[in-house]
Amino acid sequence: MEYRFADRMSRVPESFLEELFRVSATPGVISFAGGLPSAAMIDVAGIADAARAVLEEEGRAALQYSTTDGYLPLREYIADRYRRRLGIPADPAEIQIVNGSQQCLDLVAKIFLDPGDCVGMERPGYLGAIEAFSLYEPVVRAVPLEDDGPDLDLFEALVRQHDPKFFYGIPNSQNPSGRTYSQEKRRAIADILDGTGTLFYEDDAFGDLFFDGKPRLPVKSYLPEQTILSGSFSKVVAPGMRIGWVYAPAPILEQFNVVKQAADLHSNFLCQKILHRYLIAHDLDDHLRRVTERYGRNCRLICDLLDDLFPDSMTHTTPEGGMFLMAFLPPGVSAMDVFREGVRQGVAVLPAVPFCVDGGGDDAVRLNFSAADEDAIAEGMHRLAAVVRGLA
Ligand SMILES: Cc1ncc(COP(=O)(O)O)c(C=O)c1O
Repeated sequence: MEYRFADRMSRVPESFLEELFRVSATPGVISFAGGLPSAAMIDVAGIADAARAVLEEEGRAALQYSTTDGYLPLREYIADRYRRRLGIPADPAEIQIVNGSQQCLDLVAKIFLDPGDCVGMERPGYLGAIEAFSLYEPVVRAVPLEDDGPDLDLFEALVRQHDPKFFYGIPNSQNPSGRTYSQEKRRAIADILDGTGTLFYEDDAFGDLFFDGKPRLPVKSYLPEQTILSGSFSKVVAPGMRIGWVYAPAPILEQFNVVKQAADLHSNFLCQKILHRYLIAHDLDDHLRRVTERYGRNCRLICDLLDDLFPDSMTHTTPEGGMFLMAFLPPGVSAMDVFREGVRQGVAVLPAVPFCVDGGGDDAVRLNFSAADEDAIAEGMHRLAAVVRGLA
């Protein structure tokens, strides 16, 4: 049988990630290539208590169908956190629960994109977004990401010349670069977009993970009616629960509700209830202090080892939070070669190639600093330094 798949399936960029994750899981390979939060930081006992309480006290309701927008007390918790942390007047009615913020990428693209529409994003940009958007066949145009946010001249030119339906960006501790937009650039982006037909899609997967514990004001606060903000409990509680949210203006949420209902009726209601129980029984900020203390220490260790062990011509970003940083290889050293040789020598990194929609990226690698512990990081960075020095 020749299966007659839709044309769009052939337009998804080819990804070598599966191969990479298989290789990274080989025993003995120290991997900086993945994107897992620290398993040690998942509060299994706390989540087990919450699960037991939900099942014992309200099991029948928790195991029943529910509404598409999501469990109201959980949406209230999220809206209240925006008010307390950021002073943003979020209303639970503006919050929709999704299956991780990854689902939001798919559903926003489904609502807004016709084939051939323009979408803007950062270069390098989040691979999961490139994959999700590509199924809707847009023309994706990238704007270089500088240390303090997108190149503003090119951002403005993109908006004026190509009228993208939305620009997708990650202002806090971006994946893959680890860069954070300055407040000035956030305001400037809002000013440029204000009054145009282009939305800002603000993916805030890492806003709770700043090492200094201080939140940064989102673009949403400068441009509320034109910004779709997504968040997630994956990096702060547990990714396996698959609970994220979207915070968007009412007319957008109305459309969102239609596509979410068609996709899956609603997100896992039992998990929403367990998560809410867990959140009201624990101080999330206390938990986040422990997580960011660990990630900050790991990140500093990697940066120090990059400075000490590698050729002087190698540079790197210096993240203020999140889970990733980017290292720029010495001139002439290929990231794909570093990947291949690294695996042979027992260390895996992720080349920036698949993060660049318009080519390039063979000059840099993404390093994850959340998953490994300090001993593994030290050993892995020594192996990586030997690989790079061998290729330089
Ligand atoms: C920037 C960014 N957005 C979205 C996601 C999806 O995460 P989740 O669906 O678990 O919320 C990730 C996962 O790593 C990410 O890095």
